[in-house]
Amino acid sequence: MTTPAALVLAAGQGTRMKSKRPKVLHEVAGRPMVRHVVEALRGAGIQRIVVVVGHGADGVRAALGDMNVEFAVQEEQLGTGHAVMQAEPLLAGHGGPVVVTCGDVPLLRPETVAQLVETHVARGAAATVLSAMVDDPTGYGRVVRAQAPAAAEPGRLIRIVEHADASPEERAIREVNSGTYCFDGGRLFEALRAVRPDNAQGEYYLPDAVHVLAQGGGFVQAVIAPDADEILGVNTRVELARAEAVYRRRIVEHWMLQGVTIVDPDTVYIDADVSLAPDVTVLPFTFIRGNTRIEEDCRIGPHADIADSVVERGAAVERAVVKGSRIGPGCAVGPYAYLRPGTVMEERARVGSFVEVKKSRIGPESKVPHLSYVGDAVLGRDVNLGAGTITCNWDGFNKYETVIEDGARIGSNTNLIAPVRIGKGAFTGAGSSIAKDVPADALAIERAEQRNIEGWAVRRRQRAEAEKTAAGRAGAPGAGADESPPADGPGGDKGTS
Ligand code: UD1
Ligand code: CA
Repeated sequence: MTTPAALVLAAGQGTRMKSKRPKVLHEVAGRPMVRHVVEALRGAGIQRIVVVVGHGADGVRAALGDMNVEFAVQEEQLGTGHAVMQAEPLLAGHGGPVVVTCGDVPLLRPETVAQLVETHVARGAAATVLSAMVDDPTGYGRVVRAQAPAAAEPGRLIRIVEHADASPEERAIREVNSGTYCFDGGRLFEALRAVRPDNAQGEYYLPDAVHVLAQGGGFVQAVIAPDADEILGVNTRVELARAEAVYRRRIVEHWMLQGVTIVDPDTVYIDADVSLAPDVTVLPFTFIRGNTRIEEDCRIGPHADIADSVVERGAAVERAVVKGSRIGPGCAVGPYAYLRPGTVMEERARVGSFVEVKKSRIGPESKVPHLSYVGDAVLGRDVNLGAGTITCNWDGFNKYETVIEDGARIGSNTNLIAPVRIGKGAFTGAGSSIAKDVPADALAIERAEQRNIEGWAVRRRQRAEAEKTAAGRAGAPGAGADESPPADGPGGDKGTS
């Protein structure tokens, strides 16, 4: 047999989605549906894949840019049969089996496609339809099988009737067309030329080609998919959510079987392109999204949301949002931390509670334990930022860098006004606003000298008491509320030095 080729129909708008976005670009587990379909075909060993694009063609091409597929264009969407015809110039010379599927069946498995091709080739069929038994066949084409005695040939079907064209008896049929087929490439396009748009929707139906082939004496069959979930065709957002739920369950079960502990699979969301190593523990209410890799022995969650990041061996991320970051081995993040894109934490670094880090490098063993903003900064090894340290990295026009060298100790509530460099082993005094570079091993302190006013509070209380008594005598409640502060009070010492 010649190697199979495949065709993915992805030109329709998906009107029922009521969306600006072409239907096949809606995502399931963080991946556009059409990519799931192409992955399934590749997983079945099919190399040559043609995708028929039309509505939103540029977006669909871009979404498949790295997948080494060919494209055919269907300018006007005149039906699934018409869509297949558009690939004729590309596939006319292909003598082997052609798998045709749709871009809206994200749950299709590679094994099922491989099995479909195998059955098709084994029976020497003209067409093999992947069907499924479903509880609610609404919307699907119904599989009408041959009655006895023709049914002596197992699997033979007569035709597929679209929901819109079906009689009440036909609508009662629970075996439906999955929209995935295997055709004999040599006969497919010829059969399609005989298909007419004489139906309820005025479209060229691909399933009619199956009927044409049967009438022409070819053997056409339907094979029932073992798992009906797999053929779910997403036409509405309700079906999109259903597909998401099934796929999500599959992913968490896959990772559990690979050695990942997922304490509560119902509250964990893992995207299709995530990879997890054995002995990772994922705690409840956690999202691991996009292109994320988590290495061995990490502890993720509860309440973690990690996207497009790498978390290396033995790190812990608790109640944190992490985007586009690299968290080194043995690091600890959270609770309540926010790592924005471009954050790199080297081994055993720590970012604690209520800390935001952006586009910064936190050196090995360095700590940002509490209440800080670190942006556009480079921290060396074993640096400690006191609570409330802020890098002032933006002057309203440009961003500037803060460099803190190895072993430096930044006092609590320090403002580091960038561009600024804190030398190796240097200290800053708590509450300082540091705008000038600090040499290695120096102490930089920038704050007014403290003044203690003896007995001030006693006098202030006495005065308040006196005022209250006076107001009571005058019988004017609220009088004195507008008083100015005492002459030697915090307001009264303005301008003293
Ligand atoms: C189709 C089948 C139906 C089957 C169901 C399974 C037909 C006529 N009907 O119905 O028997 O049960 O799938 O999910 O084929 N497309 C194009 N160009 C077009 C029209 C559609 O590329 O002119 C693409 C769409 O982008 C979509 C796929 O073909 O990915 C299926 O089209 P859709 O309109 O969803 O077909 P269904 O009504 O679901
Ligand atoms: Ca569909």
